[in-house]
Amino acid sequence: MDKAGYHRDTWVEVDLDAVRHNVIEMKKHIKDKEVFAVVKANAYGHGELEVAQAALEAGATTLAVAVLDEALRLREHFKDVPILVMGWTSPEYAKLAAEHDIVLTVFQTEWIEQAARLLKGQTLSVHLKVDTGMGRIGIRSVEEAYDVIEACEQTHVNITGVFTHFATADEPDLKYYYQQMGAFKQWLKQVRSYLPDSLTIHIGNSAASMRFPDDMFDGVRFGISLYGLYPSEHVKEVEPIHLKPAFSLYSKLIHVKKIHKGDAISYGATYRASQDEWIGTIPIGYGDGWIRKLQNFQVLIDGKRYPIVGRICMDQCMVKLDQPYNVGEIVTLIGENQGSLVTMDDAAKHLETINYEIPCILGERIPRFYKNR
Ligand SMILES: Cc1ncc(COP(=O)(O)O)c(C=O)c1O
Repeated sequence: MDKAGYHRDTWVEVDLDAVRHNVIEMKKHIKDKEVFAVVKANAYGHGELEVAQAALEAGATTLAVAVLDEALRLREHFKDVPILVMGWTSPEYAKLAAEHDIVLTVFQTEWIEQAARLLKGQTLSVHLKVDTGMGRIGIRSVEEAYDVIEACEQTHVNITGVFTHFATADEPDLKYYYQQMGAFKQWLKQVRSYLPDSLTIHIGNSAASMRFPDDMFDGVRFGISLYGLYPSEHVKEVEPIHLKPAFSLYSKLIHVKKIHKGDAISYGATYRASQDEWIGTIPIGYGDGWIRKLQNFQVLIDGKRYPIVGRICMDQCMVKLDQPYNVGEIVTLIGENQGSLVTMDDAAKHLETINYEIPCILGERIPRFYKNR
C-alpha cells in the first residue's frame, strides 16, 4: 500500500463486526429504542467514518459527537443521517449547523437570542440539555427551561429533543443515579407540556442503558460499549449484555539481541540485565501514545507474556524475551495472541485510568485497519 502513514510495523485493527454485534445486542436489550452511536473523538480512537458506517448498518439511527467539526466531517459522508453535537457550540456557528442539518445542544437563553439573529430565518434543530447532577453543561432549573423554551418559540430554533447525562450510572452505589433520575423526571413533568409533542428524550449512556433498559425513554447514547468495552469493572462483572471488543493493537519485533549481565537498556540506563538476556525492540513509543508509564506492562508474543523493560522512548520500547524470536514476530499490545489476551482494561489498570482513555490517546501515527468492513 503506497499511502502515507502506512509504512510501519505498528498498527491498530478495528473489527467492525464487533461494532455491529454490540449495536445489535444493545438494540435487543433496550427493546428497539433508538441507538445513538457516540462517535466523538474519532470514535474513541477507532475511526469515526468506519465505525459510524458499521453502527448505522447494525441499526443505529443517529450519530452523536462532541464538537461541530466532527459533525461536519460526518455530514460529508452521511447525507441523510441525523447528527447531534452533544457539547457546546458557539452561536456564531448556528447558521453553519442549520445549513448542514446538524442538531445542536442548547441550554442558555442568550445563546438562542444570538443564534436567532444570525440564523436570519433559517431553521435550526436543537436538543435541550438538562443538568441533573453531572455539573458540566445544561439547564439546572424549571425556570431556566421556561426562559429557553420561550426564546426558542420566538425564533426559528426548534426543540426536537431533550437529554441529560448521568455521573455515576456505572458504579455499584446507585443512590446518586436515582437522585439524577428523579430530578429529571420531576423536571420533565413540569416542562413537558411546553415542549413539542414529537420530542426525542434520551438520558442513558452505555452504563445506564445496559443496567436500566426500561428507563431509557426514546433512545440511548451508546459510547464506550459500542466499542465492546464495559464502562466500569462493576458493569463488566454484572455483564448485562455480552460485548465484543473491536480494538486490537499490534506491532512486530524489529530487532532481537542478546545482552549480558550488567548491560543497560534505554534512557537513564535504569534497567540492567541480571544475567544473559534476550531483548526485543518494538517500534512504538510515547509519540504514539504508548506512554512511559506503560513500562513493566506486558505484551504478548507467541501466546506468552513479556514485560516492557527500561524507559519507553518516543518511538520504540524494549521487551525482555526468553528466547531469540525472529525479527518480524508479531507482538500483541492489546488484544489476542494465540489464545492469550491483553485487554484494554489491563492497560487501563496499569495506567491507573479508565479504558476510555487508552484508544483516545493512541495517536494518529498508528494506522487503523478495518476487519469485516
Ligand atoms: C453527553 C454524553 N452522552 C453519552 C456519552 C457516552 O457515554 P459512554 O461512553 O459512557 O457510553 C458521553 C461520553 O462521554 C457523553 O458525553
